[in-house]
Amino acid sequence: MKAGMIIPAFMVRGNILLLFQEECPMFDLSKFSLKGKVAVVTGGSRGIGKAIAQGLAKAGARVAVTSRKIDDLNAVAAEIKSFGGEAVPIQSHLGKIEEIQKMVEAVMNKFGRIDILVNNAGASPAMASVLDAEERLWETIMNLNLKGVYFTSQAAARIMKKQGKGKIINIASIDGFKPEQGVSVYSISKAGVRMITHAFASELAQFNIQVNTIAPGAVDTKMMNSHWFHLSPEEAKKAKDLTGKLIPAGRIGDPDDIAGAAVYLASDASDYTTGAEIVIDGGVLLASMLKAEEG
Ligand SMILES: NC(=O)c1ccc[n+]([C@@H]2O[C@H](COP(=O)([O-])OP(=O)(O)OC[C@H]3O[C@@H](n4cnc5c(N)ncnc54)[C@H](OP(=O)(O)O)[C@@H]3O)[C@@H](O)[C@H]2O)c1
Repeated sequence: MKAGMIIPAFMVRGNILLLFQEECPMFDLSKFSLKGKVAVVTGGSRGIGKAIAQGLAKAGARVAVTSRKIDDLNAVAAEIKSFGGEAVPIQSHLGKIEEIQKMVEAVMNKFGRIDILVNNAGASPAMASVLDAEERLWETIMNLNLKGVYFTSQAAARIMKKQGKGKIINIASIDGFKPEQGVSVYSISKAGVRMITHAFASELAQFNIQVNTIAPGAVDTKMMNSHWFHLSPEEAKKAKDLTGKLIPAGRIGDPDDIAGAAVYLASDASDYTTGAEIVIDGGVLLASMLKAEEG
């Protein structure tokens, strides 16, 4: 049966048979619209966060973009304004709890509400084997990737609870499913991000707040390219080309590849989706599972 078709329907009331026509409910595409909603995108100054901020703004949301560097944020806000969107830049170091509070207050002062939080800001500052990683590396990564995500979510969720609705989207990584050699601390943090999603989703469903994870694979950003910082430009290009060839989809992802899932998870179309994980990796995780099965 096609959506939107008129179908005959029967109903028995007492001894009377009623015959009437019923229109099959058609999916309402306007559920994907973010008009009237306010979104916060952490790490919105470049890479995946910038693509998500632009996607949410194009879907109609007013967007607060946050990171540590105000010039980069101003540039993103200007780009969003150039296509008719609304964006406000908010400078904040999200590894520090007092700055998280200030950032959330700044959004509330500007827009008076928070409907959508995208916890995208993340760090993977240096490679180190499990034998070499030092406390400073651990703290830099965990303060932003875990503590930052937890307390930003907590602050936003308190507001969403009062509003009676909200969406939290956590950007994890496929490294949170299987550790990547040399970035174990980052991988551990991203496994933790997945658990933040589960913990918040299970406790906040009763308040109509949905919490979900997007787990990207390799995406062409400053963070991804920093993997090859120790190589010459020619060697880095070779390593990058090889990475693309090893991905089942045959290429490295683009930040825009992540934005569509974020628009869905930010929208009313995902109101029955919570605690879910959307893996966007060109098939890498699936391939590694199949390989493991083959032995
Ligand atoms: N690219 C990939 O291949 C990939 C794969 C899987 C998952 N991810 C995840 O996707 C997210 C975005 O990554 P990306 O590749 O787009 O990285 P990116 O290009 O390095 O961007 C990171 C963003 O986070 C901000 N940021 C960094 N430290 C911060 C801090 N202490 N406080 C506030 N903001 C901070 C950065 O701005 P400032 O430096 O100005 O603060 C920037 O806006 C991260 O969570 C990352 O782990 C990326």
